[in-house]
Amino acid sequence: MGKHILTIHKAADAGRFKSVLIDPIKLKIVQTGDPVLREKARPLTLEQLQSSEVRGLIQLMRETMRDAPGVGLAAPQVGVGLQLAVIEDRAELLERMSPELLARQKRRPVPYHVIVNPQITLTGEPIEFFEGCLSVSGFMAVVPRTEQVRVECWNERGEPQVIEADGWYARILQHEIDHLHGTLYLDRMYTRTFMTEEHYRRGA
Ligand code: CO
Repeated sequence: MGKHILTIHKAADAGRFKSVLIDPIKLKIVQTGDPVLREKARPLTLEQLQSSEVRGLIQLMRETMRDAPGVGLAAPQVGVGLQLAVIEDRAELLERMSPELLARQKRRPVPYHVIVNPQITLTGEPIEFFEGCLSVSGFMAVVPRTEQVRVECWNERGEPQVIEADGWYARILQHEIDHLHGTLYLDRMYTRTFMTEEHYRRGA
């Protein structure tokens, strides 16, 4: 399974040994420039998905995403070249945003779930919004993405799923599945809209 997973497994064991009261161990989110973000991730076998290493990795990715906080995290972002991502758009994150923006983005809470070995089909018209990425920390840019997608994948238990998504959820899926193909939003953005989060907040 490669050294990354082994390292994570050890880190998880160390965490249990220390104390359950200490913050759960977070994974390091790699930043743009790390080659793993530019590689094509490998599909998982059912056996790999059910292994304690990968199940532990998924739990740590969930914690890391919530801690960031982010709405999605793909395995390459924590240095693991596997076709796997966690997604969750929590209601409490949305409460801090303007209802007008949420309505324009068609952004609604998305329950926590895992996508494995996804195949994506883009449908609908491209629409433009600012987005960011935990691996391009501190920046935002306008990225055109289609309004709707259909994703065929496995869930955490290896059961086949078909996800039909629109609005912000469709954007999250496109962004995370891009990570599994070594693509960052930097490749799709309108370069002249690229700015720091601080400038984005000032303009919003
Ligand atoms: Co990202």
